Amino acid sequence: MTRLGDRLFTAGYARLVHGESDVMRGWRRWLVGRARGVVVELGAGTGANLPLYDRDAVERLVLVEPSPAMRRRLAGPAADAGAEVVDATAERLPLADGTVDALAATLVLCSVPDLDRALAEAHRVLRPGGLLLLLEHVRAADPAHARRQDRLDPAWRRIAQGCHPNRDTLAHAAAAGFAIVEHHPVPVTMPGASLFPHVAAVAERR
Ligand SMILES: C[S@@+](CC[C@H](N)C(=O)[O-])C[C@H]1O[C@@H](n2cnc3c(N)ncnc32)[C@H](O)[C@@H]1O
Repeated sequence: MTRLGDRLFTAGYARLVHGESDVMRGWRRWLVGRARGVVVELGAGTGANLPLYDRDAVERLVLVEPSPAMRRRLAGPAADAGAEVVDATAERLPLADGTVDALAATLVLCSVPDLDRALAEAHRVLRPGGLLLLLEHVRAADPAHARRQDRLDPAWRRIAQGCHPNRDTLAHAAAAGFAIVEHHPVPVTMPGASLFPHVAAVAERR
């Protein structure tokens, strides 16, 4: 992405997150509130989850973010919260094997260029029993709905920074060695949201 594209996307996204519903924020809190110990967040963006962690339970918080414009927005709030910001991608985490207790990804796995590689990295860095905490829009369970997502995918990914509307993220997580221990539909109220069913899920690293 160009620097201008990165800055425009970041500014637009910051506005979107600012206007996010209390319901969405509640699900973010529900999800990241489960994080304990050494915690990594993938694609932390503008830091929407930062105030929602249980800081008494989190020992170290690493925010992975490849976008320079997002990192600029993250830097201040992260420093205030005692979190580290790292320039890296989900597909290549600068962390040793089995050293992470929880890894969160919210609205990120839809657009990582290589979903399976990102999940393999999550599996590598998490300790056995560690948690993968996901809030993502996913492939619809209804086949007709999923076909509409497939038709939308080529155009959508071009206009929405590589975002795929049709990824079956939980199935990919299961294939990567995670047991999905809990998942809930998350109601989203934006225009066109019915095409993008969201879920909050807790998966355990096997
Ligand atoms: C839609 S934003 C979501 C931001 C934040 N997680 C949230 O819930 O508001 C997607 C984020 O993923 C980041 N991202 C894109 N590709 C990535 C990758 N390969 N690895 C990690 N993060 C990535 C983007 O820079 C952006 O900050």
